[in-house]
Amino acid sequence: MAKVRDLYNRPVKDLRISVTDRCNFRCTYCMPLDEYVWIDKKEILTFEEITRLANLFIQLGVDKIRLTGGEPLVRRDLEKLICQLSSLNGLNDLSLTTNGSVLAEKAPALKSAGLKRINVSIDTLDPEKFKRITKRGDLARVLEGLFTAQRCGLNPIKINAVIERGVNDDEIIDLVDFSRKNGFAIRFIEYMDVGNSNNWTSEKMVSKKEIIERIKTRFPLREMGRNRGSAPSVDYQFMDGSGDIGVIASVTEPFCSSCTRVRLTADGKFVTCLFSQQGIDLKTPMRNGATDETLAEVIAATWRQRRDRYSDERLEALLSPTGYDPKRRQKIEMITLGG
Ligand code: GTP
Ligand code: 5AD
Ligand code: SF4
Ligand code: SF4
Repeated sequence: MAKVRDLYNRPVKDLRISVTDRCNFRCTYCMPLDEYVWIDKKEILTFEEITRLANLFIQLGVDKIRLTGGEPLVRRDLEKLICQLSSLNGLNDLSLTTNGSVLAEKAPALKSAGLKRINVSIDTLDPEKFKRITKRGDLARVLEGLFTAQRCGLNPIKINAVIERGVNDDEIIDLVDFSRKNGFAIRFIEYMDVGNSNNWTSEKMVSKKEIIERIKTRFPLREMGRNRGSAPSVDYQFMDGSGDIGVIASVTEPFCSSCTRVRLTADGKFVTCLFSQQGIDLKTPMRNGATDETLAEVIAATWRQRRDRYSDERLEALLSPTGYDPKRRQKIEMITLGG
């Protein structure tokens, strides 16, 4: 099968697979709603179906897979899927993004199944604030999970911190300090208008420029650029050589022109942008007996027509006299897409 490129000549390289839309947290910036129309259990792809689709994406160009949710570790027996995926030919990187809530129990099995590395979301080191942001989370349990994962040999472990003005921007230095002392890499993420429910405004967002300026007052940094030239994160090394940090500046320095990411929802919809309004259903044809060739052609044909550049358009609108309206389009929720 030939590798594919989209209308802006972007190949498909990184597949983000959401294994469930359920999450035991309700982060204010992602999923503040208690109720939601959850995907029906029988619509959720089996591990065999996920592995089959993953293999097709690999043949079309993908060489990195990340498992996401909701919270991926609430899916039972996830280590079995990790075993299946890690044996696929052509895959160079298999990782997972988690809220860490059950990592203390799951880390050993994840490591034995072949997982090499993980990203864990931690926005604050204050237990009260952690509860306020996640509504249901317990910071002590997450930290226990983080250190268990480290002891099990998962490496690197990256911490993701979404920075929201007036909420946790006072903790940037403390988060850097914590990560440096304990051997974690940390990435700060500009607050984005994902989904339809987080009431995003540009005032709540703290820019990459501001984040870096604040860190530099304590820790001198050297900019390293983007991994593979296409990663969301711009990385920096501490001048004293003791580790690195990154900033994901989707709002102020969008990276759509090099975006090689594709997403697969837990019910088998293939989505070409984090801000898409809908996905392309692969589950129905698959369950109706479509061949690998037919499914691959559906994926390839969609990718060839891809013209997504939402974050670029957002910045253009933010800088224009009319401004940007985050509610201008109904998007798929982040909890369904896995970020
Ligand atoms: P690494 O492979 O470890 O660099 O991971 P990653 O940064 O690709 O994955 P992770 O799940 O940790 O993503 C961190 C955050 O980056 C996501 O939650 C998003 O907020 C943001 N992000 C990732 N991919 C995209 C993207 O394609 N577009 C936009 N706008 N933001 C993205
Ligand atoms: N803006 C930026 N990042 C977000 N995430 C969730 N919601 C948002 C948002 N509104 C991040 C989480 C997690 C990753 C998958 O997505 O913190 O680390
Ligand atoms: Fe929070 Fe992640 Fe759950 Fe969203 S999916 S509510 S960011 S833990
Ligand atoms: Fe890719 Fe869409 Fe994010 Fe741009 S906004 S980087 S096209 S996922």
